[in-house]
Amino acid sequence: MFATQDEEARRGMRRPAAISLPKGTLGVLTPGMGAVSTTFMAGVELVRKGLALPIGSVTQLATIRLGKRTEGRSPLIRELVPLEKLDSLVFGGWDIFPDTAYEAARKAGVLEPNHLEEVKGLLGGIWPMKAAFDQAYVKKLNGPHVKKAKTKFDLAEEIKDDIRQFKKEAGAQRLVMVWCGSTEVFLTPDEVHADPARFENAMKTNHPSIAPSMLYAWAAITSGVPFANGAPNLTVDIPALQELAREHHVPICGKDFKTGQTLLKTILAPGFKARMLGLNGWFSTNILGNRDGEVLDDPESFKTKEESKLGVLEYVLQPQLYPQLYGKLCHKVRINYYPPRGDNKEGWDNIDIFGWLGYPMQIKVDFLCRDSILAAPIVLDLVLFLDLAQRAGLRGIQEWLSFYFKSPMCAPELYPEHDLFIQLMKLKNTLRWMMGEDLITHLGAEYYD
Ligand SMILES: NC(=O)c1ccc[n+]([C@@H]2O[C@H](COP(=O)([O-])OP(=O)(O)OC[C@H]3O[C@@H](n4cnc5c(N)ncnc54)[C@H](O)[C@@H]3O)[C@@H](O)[C@H]2O)c1
Repeated sequence: MFATQDEEARRGMRRPAAISLPKGTLGVLTPGMGAVSTTFMAGVELVRKGLALPIGSVTQLATIRLGKRTEGRSPLIRELVPLEKLDSLVFGGWDIFPDTAYEAARKAGVLEPNHLEEVKGLLGGIWPMKAAFDQAYVKKLNGPHVKKAKTKFDLAEEIKDDIRQFKKEAGAQRLVMVWCGSTEVFLTPDEVHADPARFENAMKTNHPSIAPSMLYAWAAITSGVPFANGAPNLTVDIPALQELAREHHVPICGKDFKTGQTLLKTILAPGFKARMLGLNGWFSTNILGNRDGEVLDDPESFKTKEESKLGVLEYVLQPQLYPQLYGKLCHKVRINYYPPRGDNKEGWDNIDIFGWLGYPMQIKVDFLCRDSILAAPIVLDLVLFLDLAQRAGLRGIQEWLSFYFKSPMCAPELYPEHDLFIQLMKLKNTLRWMMGEDLITHLGAEYYD
């Protein structure tokens, strides 16, 4: 499916970036080996064994239209761009609990025992490395499997050693890191985040604005490893780490996997806006009973999540452009820790909309979802796309991966794009651009004589 140079010349295409082909093994490292991380690892293994399908994964299942509709060219995305194969993935991670990935998956209770038994061979051999952890940043958790060092800088250097060691032992040629650790307390950007020198100094003086997730991100970036942030923590969304990412030619992205209720919000809200329907209110509440829910029961971790969930509607609806439709929107989000529900979250939405002449209507959504089942394919896609991005020479924030995040990172002078359909268009057009294909504008064929 890859165009030869002759074909490219014939079609008059110019490939914007030379993409080296994936060779050898790709190591996936996750700080945090809980529900999401182990559901991802188990799922990849089940797919490799031919026992399940990678439902929800764009890299594995989606096609991409190329050229004009009349050309009938719609290959799979993985036939267009040189993505790493699932067979070449190896896994590792860190956690504050010493359980293997198999034990952690069993405790998380996402997958059925018959699925877990099929992957016991792989997951039972994945032992977490000791975590860089500080309870000040995740109040509801404490565990025994943690590193001890004098400074945060020393901890970050230990993570770099872990990365080197893992790479050697796993025989990996390339690595990607995805933060699948718990949600940390809310932090705002501080002057110690402003540039790499101040950041490094702050690590050495144990500054409180340096959270553990930032140590993993710094270690990854300075080791040349692409980094994605699956939680709403500030982590890599600071100038110091973004500058380092550009310097070290490392692609980065975040924040907070777009699953469950927020996924539905970014599907529904663009539809209301497209039809110029008004919104008075959107009340969202959740019950969930997994460890993530327990962590979010702490008001400081919840604040981080709340910020991430609340921003979505503001950006999709653009009330500054449509004050009559969205200027008075009341948006509330609640998360309730309710242990009997485990990982099977329930999210209710009450949506107050209004139509022609201002007549009110209501929509109720009750989503009985499985959080980690929705998050696992996102981890897979991010791993494969970040690895592709690095081989294509892309570095810094990868806005084309906004599709996967509740709170997409973007350059400071821009606003984040939240509309799922614009995000998908951006993702696919970036892939077309990488391969020298025409971008698709969806402009009609013949409007004029
Ligand atoms: N499940 C989803 O759909 C979803 C969606 C969006 C975001 N997220 C985020 O992804 C993250 C993982 O979710 P989960 O459901 O797997 O949670 P989880 O509680 O099952 O797993 C998180 C793991 O991270 C570990 N951990 C915490 N701090 C650590 C540190 N400093 N170093 C290493 N390990 C650490 C915990 O011990 C735990 O095992 C959470 O932050 C969550 O908010 C999840």
